[in-house]
Amino acid sequence: MMKFALEGQRVLITGAATGIGRACALMLAEQGAEVWINHLGQADASAALVEQIAVAGGRATAIEADVSDPDAVAEMFACIIATGPLDGLVNNAGIIQEQGFLDTSEDDWRRIMAVDLDGVYRCCRYALESMSGAGRGAIVNIASELGQLGRENYVAYCTAKAGVIGMTKSLAREFAPHIRVNGVAPGPVDTAMVSLEHMSEEWIAKELAIPAGRLGRPEEIAAAVCFLLSPAASFFTGQMLGANGGAWM
Ligand code: NAI
Repeated sequence: MMKFALEGQRVLITGAATGIGRACALMLAEQGAEVWINHLGQADASAALVEQIAVAGGRATAIEADVSDPDAVAEMFACIIATGPLDGLVNNAGIIQEQGFLDTSEDDWRRIMAVDLDGVYRCCRYALESMSGAGRGAIVNIASELGQLGRENYVAYCTAKAGVIGMTKSLAREFAPHIRVNGVAPGPVDTAMVSLEHMSEEWIAKELAIPAGRLGRPEEIAAAVCFLLSPAASFFTGQMLGANGGAWM
């Protein structure tokens, strides 16, 4: 097993009941971190995950909050920080929608921004308040290669993710040297988000035409997250790790 020395680190992962966030919670807990599993209306899945981590000897707490709701996020952070400062934050919660630009209404645009960009801003703000007080901490923002490359019919999502990349670099500069802010920009990963349920077969076929020739696994993104949160990444800040199977180089 890889070892990232995260013992005793208190880490919040947003949108952690499923997919990449779930894999992050499992791997961070396996590495010794105490994890908070944020979710939105997924009490059963989160409770099962907490149980799975506890059975393996780890520490986890489920905490519900809609990251697009300022009051809910304030309450979530107050709850966590009441028990001690936060060492790590993984901004993972996200939504995607395929939609031609001319069909994207103000409401559609706002809905994507509210979760994928504003949610990250909001969680970073509360986490950095706590981390600044403690003089230490690390944040990992899950962006996307689509925020780097752009993609037709995903303008709102790509714009939000490009914003996350800009936020990551700006916060890395503003909060250095004691707090590190990095990101992971995954290529296509095998989760509910890119399943054939939501995406056309043409889309999946296009995604597979990359050097790795397959979708990524959530654990492969979680490994990058564990690394970036750990002391092993002490010289990394403002970076966006391209966990994308070589989709672009
Ligand atoms: P997923 O759909 O399994 O995970 C997203 C999670 O975010 C879900 O558990 C969902 O309930 C939660 N969520 C959505 N809105 C929320 C809100 N308002 N408040 C709190 N939680 C909320 O999909 P996946 O793939 O695990 O996505 C995780 C992150 O990875 C997302 O930010 C996504 O944009 C990003 N990503 C995924 C890629 C993929 O190919 N699967 C590629 C690149 C980036």
